[in-house]
Amino acid sequence: MTDFAAWSRLIQARTETVLAALLPGGAIAPEQLHDAMRYATLGGGKRVRPMLAHAAGEAMGADPARVDRAAAAVELIHVYSLTHDDLPCMDDDDLRRGKPTCHVAYDEATALLVGDALQSLAFEALAHPDAATDAATQVEMLCLLARAAGSRGMAGGQAVDLAATGRTPDLAELEFMHIHKTGALIQAAVLLGALATGALEAATRERLERYARCIGLAFQVMDDVLDAEFDTATLGKTAGKDAAQGKATYLSLMTVKEARTYSHELLNDAIEAIGPLGERGLRLAQIARFIVERSY
Ligand code: IPE
Ligand code: IPE
Ligand code: MG
Ligand code: MG
Ligand code: MG
Repeated sequence: MTDFAAWSRLIQARTETVLAALLPGGAIAPEQLHDAMRYATLGGGKRVRPMLAHAAGEAMGADPARVDRAAAAVELIHVYSLTHDDLPCMDDDDLRRGKPTCHVAYDEATALLVGDALQSLAFEALAHPDAATDAATQVEMLCLLARAAGSRGMAGGQAVDLAATGRTPDLAELEFMHIHKTGALIQAAVLLGALATGALEAATRERLERYARCIGLAFQVMDDVLDAEFDTATLGKTAGKDAAQGKATYLSLMTVKEARTYSHELLNDAIEAIGPLGERGLRLAQIARFIVERSY
């Protein structure tokens, strides 16, 4: 199957099933917390990170079932990051994935706990015996996700984002912020998907890291562009928020046209990085293209 749209729908459905099984049922105490975790996680999102994990696993010749837990673990960390990102103390958003944000549908304290609990669940999922082929690789995967989520990864990038709000940072600081707040989890998705099949050859790992670094940055550059160019209904989150809130974005330093050109340069670098994988890299190349050409 070479059709990317059909493949992405399959991965989305697969991800939904795996996440629904991992999340405690809404009738299990504490009911409200479990219900809110399911509300935040299920029934929405593009599932780009699970797609990346599955594409990387596929490139290594893995059966999709091998990659399910790694893919779900990264998505759980991502949903936690979104739930906290939307809180009034951060971006103060009331719409996410086309529905009210978690703290609006429930309350702030519940949204805080949803993030905490999703993060724990991610590591529990990744620590399951089915998540890796051997114990040494599994410990490496756990460390990799921990680092990508923490102060030297996503949480660190979010701290820079908050500190940069209301002023115009230079390009180096913006790149640092984007590579951390968004790129770190994107890179984790690619590497975890590949590592789920076992230890990686150094050259393959370097190629995947370079690919992921380029598309991680391109992803957030395009997120900045979409916020400025598209409408709320298309995005499923409030459009025009970055400018309204004085957020530091790539559009603080370049025009929409320049930002789109830059994301295409990053796309070319990403495709070049995985060139040696040949046909095995087809899905990774398709996702990279989707990331810079998407409208939501
Ligand atoms: C939005 O991520 C937040 C960023 C890290 C830019 P996505 O655009 O992947 O959001 P969903 O998962 O599809 O809702
Ligand atoms: C979010 O960046 C990055 C993380 C959630 C880690 P944004 O704040 O730009 O994401 P959106 O636009 O709210 O989805
Ligand atoms: Mg934010
Ligand atoms: Mg935000
Ligand atoms: Mg944004």
